[in-house]
Amino acid sequence: MYDHNEKAGNQGDVVKHTALLAAADAMITASSGDFHYADTFAGYAFNPLQSTGEWRYGIGKLWQSGSTCDNVNVTFWRDLWNCKPGLLGSVYPGSSLFIFKLCMSNKRNFRARLWDTSPAVIKQLMETYDKQQVTIYPRPARADDFTDCKPDLLLIDPPGLRSPYPGLAELLCFFDVVPNAILWFPRTAQGRGTPAPETEPSKKAKRECLLRGLSVTSVRWSNGIRTCGCRLAYNLPNAAAADALRSAVDEVVRLMKWDSIVEHE
Ligand SMILES: C[S@@+](CC[C@H](N)C(=O)[O-])C[C@H]1O[C@@H](n2cnc3c(N)ncnc32)[C@H](O)[C@@H]1O
Repeated sequence: MYDHNEKAGNQGDVVKHTALLAAADAMITASSGDFHYADTFAGYAFNPLQSTGEWRYGIGKLWQSGSTCDNVNVTFWRDLWNCKPGLLGSVYPGSSLFIFKLCMSNKRNFRARLWDTSPAVIKQLMETYDKQQVTIYPRPARADDFTDCKPDLLLIDPPGLRSPYPGLAELLCFFDVVPNAILWFPRTAQGRGTPAPETEPSKKAKRECLLRGLSVTSVRWSNGIRTCGCRLAYNLPNAAAADALRSAVDEVVRLMKWDSIVEHE
């Protein structure tokens, strides 16, 4: 069974969380009142960094390099997990906690609706957040959950796009009901060559997002096969939020020293 504790802080989280924070920060700056966040695959509020975790290929690489940057969103993200003596045994925040902390730092009320199907995740989310501020649903989200209640920002972060998880078509339905949304999904490669060629389903997923009128940012962190990178498909009517997202991803890819060109379409 999928457990994000094993993956927390990996390459996908590096891209996803810097992008998410950058978009949310721009939206918070341009608005007032409570900030309403929604996360259809919320995951844990925070994840322990264990000896076997994938964080070594993500935030671990950044920690070792010691490189810094001028991008305020990347710096804010890093300050929330950086531990000077070393990362093993520390915790890495989940997506909802990053936004919670961003609201705290901007002195804005955090309001959220979070969905997840894992009992362990639900238990931790319930122990972490105040019930008055955050509603937690122990079930899959549906598009009609958003008919009458639109968040300021929605994150759609599935464990994958293949069964038993909802497919791309199902996930894209959320964009019909929420004006500001970001979808993260993996990019896959298979076969010979350097880089190994991207799989047809992976290319098709990008085409479908573009056909739907979404912006797409693509990152590749490895020349190898299987999960070689990730994509963000998003609809952010606030142009500053989309620009901030792209700048943060460009900056973090540079910091990670991934030998890859970020594509923004
Ligand atoms: C990639 S993780 C989420 C990570 C989190 N958004 C973050 O960035 O920290 C995906 C989560 O989806 C949950 N999940 C799996 N199937 C689900 C479903 N059908 N509906 C809602 N959550 C699901 C898993 O339990 C897991 O916690």
